[in-house]
Amino acid sequence: MKTIQLLSLVLIAGWMFACNAPKGELDELDKKVEELLGQMTLEEKVGQMNQYNGFYDVTGPAPSAGDAKNKYDHIKKGWVGSMLNVRGAKNVREMQSLAVDSSRLGIPMIFGFDVIHGHKTLSPIPLAESASWDLEAIEKSARIAAIEASAEGLNWTFAPMVDISRDARWGRVMEGAGEDTYLGTRIGVARVKGFQGDDLSANNTIAACAKHFAAYGFAEGGRDYNTVDVGTATLYNVVFPPFKAAIEEADVKTFMNSFNIVNGIPATGNSFLMRDILKGEWGFEGYVISDWSSGEEMIDHGFARDTAHVAQLAAIAGSDMDMESYAYVKYLAKHVREGRVAESVVDEAARRILKVKFELGLFDDPYKYCDEAREKELIYHQDHMDAALDMAKKSIVLLKNENNTLPLSKEQKKIAVIGTLAKDKDSPLGNWRMAGEDNTAVSVLEGLEKYTSNIKYAEGVKLVTGPTAFPIELEVNETDRSGFKEAIRLAKKSEVVIMVLGEHGLHSGEARSRANIDLPGLQQELLEEVYKVNQNIILVLTNGRPLAITWADEHLRAIVEAWQLGTQAGNAIAEVLFGDYNPSGKLPMTFPRHVGQVPMYYNYFNTGRPGPDGELFYPHYMDESHLPLYAFGYGLSYSSFEYSDLKVQVVDKENVSVEVMVKNTSSVDGEEVVQLYIRDRVASIVRPVKELKGFDKINLKAGEAQSVSFKLSKKELGFYNGNGEFLLEPGDFDVMIGGSSDKVLTASFVLN
Ligand code: BGC
Repeated sequence: MKTIQLLSLVLIAGWMFACNAPKGELDELDKKVEELLGQMTLEEKVGQMNQYNGFYDVTGPAPSAGDAKNKYDHIKKGWVGSMLNVRGAKNVREMQSLAVDSSRLGIPMIFGFDVIHGHKTLSPIPLAESASWDLEAIEKSARIAAIEASAEGLNWTFAPMVDISRDARWGRVMEGAGEDTYLGTRIGVARVKGFQGDDLSANNTIAACAKHFAAYGFAEGGRDYNTVDVGTATLYNVVFPPFKAAIEEADVKTFMNSFNIVNGIPATGNSFLMRDILKGEWGFEGYVISDWSSGEEMIDHGFARDTAHVAQLAAIAGSDMDMESYAYVKYLAKHVREGRVAESVVDEAARRILKVKFELGLFDDPYKYCDEAREKELIYHQDHMDAALDMAKKSIVLLKNENNTLPLSKEQKKIAVIGTLAKDKDSPLGNWRMAGEDNTAVSVLEGLEKYTSNIKYAEGVKLVTGPTAFPIELEVNETDRSGFKEAIRLAKKSEVVIMVLGEHGLHSGEARSRANIDLPGLQQELLEEVYKVNQNIILVLTNGRPLAITWADEHLRAIVEAWQLGTQAGNAIAEVLFGDYNPSGKLPMTFPRHVGQVPMYYNYFNTGRPGPDGELFYPHYMDESHLPLYAFGYGLSYSSFEYSDLKVQVVDKENVSVEVMVKNTSSVDGEEVVQLYIRDRVASIVRPVKELKGFDKINLKAGEAQSVSFKLSKKELGFYNGNGEFLLEPGDFDVMIGGSSDKVLTASFVLN
């Protein structure tokens, strides 16, 4: 025993050198990994591939096997490489010491957690942050989340979710960057950089995880976990790019595979995805974790016979770590001994996992994230609160503002605030706020009351009945109208009515698909009743997905999309409503007029019968427009902007420069997101009518004009064909620039 401990000490000394190695010396680090691997038994190597859920939070169906005692024993045997859902400097230290002090080789565990939009200080839900189109702010938001999470003992987040989704019914759109691949790629890269920082071995940076690989956002009907059927051209052009860029541009350390099938094969057992593409073509050196029990679920898919088969299929396909299926820990060593899985498969997975642990510096100091004083100092730090407020303001999208209804005058008398969500301190935190504390957001009402005492509040109608804690299914109130009367009475005697309506914080997120995307419950009815007595309504929407609010758009003068904005929600909304902040957010997802139009997205393909409008035999609905309510990229400001002088210059056969003048034609300083789209008019596979390929967020003083330029290269001008080959084909292109995907100036150019 003593000899082994001594050996461990010698190894740790070596690791201390290795973990601080700068990039050029990674070979040295690889050598250390090999030395360690050489010391490990087969079971210990498999152990690295095994992750257990902790005993604090559960983010999936309760596991059918394994209890706490078993898990403790396994950690002491060196059979557990990682834990999820253990947090708090003290808790992590305790758990880590089981691995470090009691297991034979003392290999530290890596502690993963869903740090999705902030940690304790919550920033807006990811979809909302994406509406800011502000990459710097988004990176900062992830950086702060990492600082707080790492102060709580964590060193790995299961984020960012870079799944592209075009389906507002899917509850997890709240967790992504929306429908567009280019925007989603830029935001994914920013988030990985924010989490991982410049130095992964620092004690305030954490490993990121690009998830869910792949095509999880294409669940049929927007029903979570549902079947996916996408063609290879869509995989390569729409689904893959954010994942690929996370590796190439941000060196993301881990990947998570997904629940769905791709080409009939569950992602967790899909060697095309993990071996051919990810680790082959893209040269990914980190490791892949399964999703929660996604290994075991291959049995229900009809792909694996039993859990033993799961272990075999998943390991061979390249799923390196098993989250909550217990398949590897039970069967993988046996498979190797009996020749069904090559030992090199296990070696490779363990090697990948150990390498990330070295890079994090865990062998240097396994307790580096477990400093309680630091935890106390950093959680809810004022700087984090300030940044969360800034991010929240940037995420707000002004959808309608007829006759400059907004901003409100601070002298405004008799303001009614109506809606249960106005007072809700929990819903603004949104879903996926695992470490967040319930009811800690600044509510809209609290935010507004800081500005004026001229406010009276009425709940109007309850949105949900019964308990609302995760993971309970929400019971939406469909019958109780008892609050209507008071709301109508208040509206009648008020000058202006701010109605805060939308979704409960748990209406979106995992397993929160909706067949309707209107205002849930009796809220629409309440809105229409209030409108009958006072038409001066400002609608503040709080929601985790695009909503079909067609009636509101037709009838109301002002609509503000305020999503779920996190800890500082109410303060941010109040600043926008009273004009202390000029909104500049732009929609990262199309808002349909009706759920029947979904999936609806701006970068669709022309069919052979594109129109014109009014003809019978073209793709349209008899009972609804084929146009959206609000287009991708749309969003107003208290300023107004004018675009002119679009100029295109073809530099050579792969490069084009584009320039446009943007002028703030109002008397208010403001920010504008200048968006550039292209269309390849004729290609060997059909190309979308419009694809975002660049954007720039600029600040313009009242009356100021600025020239904005873009460079397009092969990367932006080319595309993948169905065989995964990247092509840039000569021919005719359009370039379009504007402040929304549906309002652009267009010019053309030819590539020779
Ligand atoms: C989700 C993942 C998440 C994991 C761990 C799963 O249900 O799909 O995104 O990281 O749980 O909480």
